[in-house]
Amino acid sequence: MQDNIESKEEINLEKNENNFQDYHIPVLYNETLDNLVINPDGVYVDCTLGGGGHSEGILKRLSSKGVLISIDQDDKAIEYAKKRLGGYKNWKVFKNNFENIDTVIYMAGYDKVDGILMDIGVSSTQLDDPERGFSYRYDTRLDMRMNNSAEISAYEVVNNYEEGDLSKIFFEYGEERHARRIARLICESRKEKPIENTGDLVTLIKRAYPERAMKHPAKKTFQAIRIEVNKELEVLETAINKSIACLNKKGRMGIITFHSLEDRIVKTMFKEFATGCICPPRLPMCMCKHEATIKLVTKKPIIPGNEEVGNNKRARSSKLRVIERI
Ligand SMILES: C[S@@+](CC[C@H](N)C(=O)[O-])C[C@H]1O[C@@H](n2cnc3c(N)ncnc32)[C@H](O)[C@@H]1O
Repeated sequence: MQDNIESKEEINLEKNENNFQDYHIPVLYNETLDNLVINPDGVYVDCTLGGGGHSEGILKRLSSKGVLISIDQDDKAIEYAKKRLGGYKNWKVFKNNFENIDTVIYMAGYDKVDGILMDIGVSSTQLDDPERGFSYRYDTRLDMRMNNSAEISAYEVVNNYEEGDLSKIFFEYGEERHARRIARLICESRKEKPIENTGDLVTLIKRAYPERAMKHPAKKTFQAIRIEVNKELEVLETAINKSIACLNKKGRMGIITFHSLEDRIVKTMFKEFATGCICPPRLPMCMCKHEATIKLVTKKPIIPGNEEVGNNKRARSSKLRVIERI
């Protein structure tokens, strides 16, 4: 199934394959491909291109009739993946937010597709890039935008949001116990001068923590701000609704999540779409006419084995859920 490559010598695919792992190691790689790519002639969408690891895996399993459309909102990811995958004739790439998956599929010249992958969150390169401000380990300007042309960055969230809103975000998106105290300290501090850098924010968060924490005290607050900046949960819900509508019969969708908030959304939405009648049980006959549009391929999420977690600790919280359109 490798006849979709222009010329192996020219793009030196085999040789470069290992080097490309330095951008991001794709998690649950074989599990994802085995469950998703069941039609080698089909049209597939990778909503989260990143370093192109999963995309490359999909391309390798497609025949020359199959097509892969990859999406990312990060220019740097696209630039990198073009070097890796530019030699595949049946690969199309779009810079966009995957909440616009229906528009992207249309722009690529299709109406429906046979498989959709979402590997949610940030890549290792985004997280480890000191300039992007995703990590509490570096002292840099507050940013955290996956799409660097987006209007709102972490700076605006931290410096402009009301105390109550900050507290709610830290509590709901970070499950942070000290949400109120952190929000109060931020608001007191920014009256003196704006909070410009991640380092200043980490110092404030540490002051709000009364006890010595097992994990880094800023971990949850940073996660919460990142989710807010990139509107990650709203985008996920919109994208799931649109994606299911874009799948052909027997088409599949796989979603890899990394924390409980995302997984809860995926699990709940998949369950709703997989449920037929939703009438109260006391009704003698169905009045709702609600029909299931999908079936669950994975009743329980697939999680990585010890070997994968041993090799890549970022895989440890990953969960893969797969559905099929009926
Ligand atoms: C975890 S990485 C994906 C890694 C990829 N599967 C690989 O094998 O390298 C997530 C990627 O999805 C992108 N991303 C996250 N949310 C997005 C969204 N709403 N729209 C478009 N791209 C998004 C990020 O910019 C990042 O590059």
